Amino acid sequence: MEKKEMLYEGKAKQVFATDDPEVLLVHYKDDATAFNGLKKGTITGKGAINNRVTNFMMQVLEKEGVPTHFVEELNERDTLVKKVSIVPLEVIIRNISAGSFAKHYGVEEGIVFDEPTIEFSYKNDELGDPLINEYHALALKLATKAEIARIKELAFRTNEVMKKFFKERKVDLVDFKLEFGRLSDGTIVLADEISPDTCRFWDSETHDKLDKDRFRRDLGNVEDAYKEMLKRIIGIEA
Ligand code: TMP
Repeated sequence: MEKKEMLYEGKAKQVFATDDPEVLLVHYKDDATAFNGLKKGTITGKGAINNRVTNFMMQVLEKEGVPTHFVEELNERDTLVKKVSIVPLEVIIRNISAGSFAKHYGVEEGIVFDEPTIEFSYKNDELGDPLINEYHALALKLATKAEIARIKELAFRTNEVMKKFFKERKVDLVDFKLEFGRLSDGTIVLADEISPDTCRFWDSETHDKLDKDRFRRDLGNVEDAYKEMLKRIIGIEA
């Protein structure tokens, strides 16, 4: 597959065309941002880890009935994915209070919920990804009713699969962000990434943070946390 022109550059990834119009190439960078790009930095080796972790998780999910955009891992940082049109919603599932949930509702971090929560943000950097509900998403024509129902079903299924997967690796899955896309025939598939950039992972015993919160909150040992998650998920050293 031939790599062609760059179509898009995001904060953590670049997307290239290939000679197959239905297939794109994603390249993972070490760049890290937080607070809608206000905080910038580099997490050395992050791109290679997030590429492998994302692809591993997408394959786990496919086996459990969650369709994804994954096609083939090409090398450390490059992966082929199905071309989708991204539904401009960030879908956030939470199992334990943390981050913006704790802040918005004035509760401590670490409260284990009886049931997972779901929330949507309108994916729009200029507006700072505002929180919206399903009715707002319909009003803004971001997705149809049927698409939102399917996205919710797939997001909760992803949570069940991932919660069990991480529990077996002594990690509590606190919360995570998903993005979905439409294939050319309209099928909804899981897209973007699943990595320490987009999930909160706490060690089940020590409750140590093993994710991007180490960068967001200047906790130190950022690279080590990403390496530790690679080891727990895939069983290999970075
Ligand atoms: P939050 O508590 O800041 O709302 O974050 C919830 C989850 O979503 C957390 O696992 C981090 C992830 N996330 C992203 O992947 N991208 C983002 O831009 C933000 C704000 C959060």
